[in-house]
Amino acid sequence: MKKNLLSILDLSSEEIYSLLDRASVLKQLQKDGVPHHPLSGKTLGLLFEKSSTRTRVSFEVGAYQLGGNTIFLSPRDTQFGRGEPIPDSARVLSNYLDGIVVRTFSQEILEEFSQYSSIPVINGLSDLLHPCQVLTDLFTIMEKKGRVEGLKVAWIGDGNNMANSWIIAASRLGFELVLATPPTHRPNDSIMSMSIKENDMRIRVVDDPEEAVKDADVINTDVWTSMGQEDEEASRKRIFSKYQVNSDLLALAKSDAIVMHCLPAHRGEEITNDVMEGPNSVIFAQAENRLHLQKAILEKLMG
Ligand code: CP
Ligand code: NVA
Repeated sequence: MKKNLLSILDLSSEEIYSLLDRASVLKQLQKDGVPHHPLSGKTLGLLFEKSSTRTRVSFEVGAYQLGGNTIFLSPRDTQFGRGEPIPDSARVLSNYLDGIVVRTFSQEILEEFSQYSSIPVINGLSDLLHPCQVLTDLFTIMEKKGRVEGLKVAWIGDGNNMANSWIIAASRLGFELVLATPPTHRPNDSIMSMSIKENDMRIRVVDDPEEAVKDADVINTDVWTSMGQEDEEASRKRIFSKYQVNSDLLALAKSDAIVMHCLPAHRGEEITNDVMEGPNSVIFAQAENRLHLQKAILEKLMG
């Protein structure tokens, strides 16, 4: 049966750990120049309704490195953008492609697409979730810290798609996650209540960024205004002004804490330039790892 990756909930904890292990092997093979072509003769589609640098390039290059081909589908140039129904698009594309990454607005679009498609569908970001990014971040934590379990991870800022995926990851893997968000911008209610049930009280949402980062091993943040929320930018800048990852906040975490950001960043807003470029930042290693982790996903779903 085809397997999708619409959410980290689609993976068991064993499957997550096996993806992280596999990403490490694939990264080494690539660094050693060893050819590995499980996607030979296969084509990955990328249907993107929102902008992307990392997700698009890392999936395209990853598919090439695995011996496959890719085709980028933008709503500007396809009938998808002119309103061709999702069930029709999904059925048609399933007969040409062997897998598809979809970046879109609502999670329901992804679900409907996957319901009508006979090929694996991968969530390349929705308003609700960003599973490929958070799986990559777990891989980066494994590389830097050697483990995920037993760590305290802090999330500072918006209760957005990244925050929601972090909550699901924490409930699957059992690490401590404290999210500091303004009361008006909490993570998704149903994801929170489902995950807290799975994992006692190790997942908490607080107002105060200092409480979240105290003794943290990992500090995570993201833009205050996500794609599609541009109209709210001015009010968001006011609401989120105290949710900035800066050197004063970092000083409250463990001295060897790592700082993460999925990028793109707005330096001087959610994160300061000195922290982004400082010794605790793993942000550019994290961006590189999109390639390796997603190759593990492609191999698992399409190989
Ligand atoms: N982090 C991330 O998903 O980046 P892009 O929007 O550039 O793909
Ligand atoms: N939360 C951000 C992530 C970008 C990769 C957004 O959705 O725009």
